[in-house]
Amino acid sequence: QAQDAAAGEKVFTKCKVCHIADQDQNKVGPSLHGVIGRTAGTHPGFTYSTAMIEAGKSGIKWDEATLTKYLHDPKAMVKGTKMAFPGLKNDQDIANVIAYLKQFSK
Ligand code: HEM
Repeated sequence: QAQDAAAGEKVFTKCKVCHIADQDQNKVGPSLHGVIGRTAGTHPGFTYSTAMIEAGKSGIKWDEATLTKYLHDPKAMVKGTKMAFPGLKNDQDIANVIAYLKQFSK
């Protein structure tokens, strides 16, 4: 799927109440700076749900595939996550927001 980071920045307005991506700073949600390649539930200084910590321990790392699944339906993938967001129903929006996040990851 083609990815458009500029369009993804617009999608990210839905995430911005809780997340910052362009800086390493936690809000209501963990910083998404450098999230690509990170093990789930491991950003320093953020108090995660037990479910997210367990997801990381089970081997989940954030990449295209896992982010696509999580953003489609967070509570279906990580049962018990405290992320109060229903998910994105549009696959193109998901691809684009991942492209946006990639800009702030190695
Ligand atoms: C966790 C992405 C919207 C609150 C996460 C994680 C990702 C993510 C990738 C896991 C991070 C990690 O393991 O370090 C997004 C994206 C969003 C979005 C791309 C928009 C499309 C929101 C919104 C809120 C929120 C709107 C607040 C209402 C949280 C919280 C966690 C989290 C509290 C920690 C979950 C837990 O510990 O179970 N988010 N999120 N997110 N997010 Fe979001």
